[in-house]
Amino acid sequence: MPDENPFQTLIELKTGVISPPVDHVIRRLSDIKTIFRDRDAAEQALTGEDPTVYEVYNVPVPEETGQLQHCTSVIHPGAVGDEYHMTKGHYHARRATAEIYLCLRGEGILLMETEDGRTAHLRMSPGTMSYIPPFWAHRTVNTGNAPLVFVGVYPGNAGHDYGSVARIGFRQRVIKGPDGPQVVAEEGAVRR
Ligand SMILES: [Fe+2]
Repeated sequence: MPDENPFQTLIELKTGVISPPVDHVIRRLSDIKTIFRDRDAAEQALTGEDPTVYEVYNVPVPEETGQLQHCTSVIHPGAVGDEYHMTKGHYHARRATAEIYLCLRGEGILLMETEDGRTAHLRMSPGTMSYIPPFWAHRTVNTGNAPLVFVGVYPGNAGHDYGSVARIGFRQRVIKGPDGPQVVAEEGAVRR
């Protein structure tokens, strides 16, 4: 017998804010400074204010098989050195789970990679719906001048594994090139 009732939330399309209020995660530069390749630039930026790099508004649903987690992410525009603001990136704890990103606002690049060394990236702009297959780690980068706002939907039991990405890093980075954003291979990246 179903024991839950249908419900809905409202997304403010410009800001990604969900109402009624849901779980809100704020990632400031001090929280994630080690993900950027230019550590000096990160430390320099932290001598001033501690900027918010991104926020997540997560609708709470049970972390169970059959449920669908859903959230909005908002990556604020900016860069650390020549590298655009981005998320920490993660695998799903249960690797065999996919995710969909629906972009609502802004411009960005979705970086993806697998544990056996495959890499991919997709451009995000309003209306793009990106499919992250099972087993692919994912990190999102804001390459524009406005907030990058997108909806994520993924299986209820997926979970998050940030540690694997933190240990080995991502094999690709997005930097400011002479003609705009450039996806480059990470120097010294682990290739397996
Ligand atoms: Fe995910």
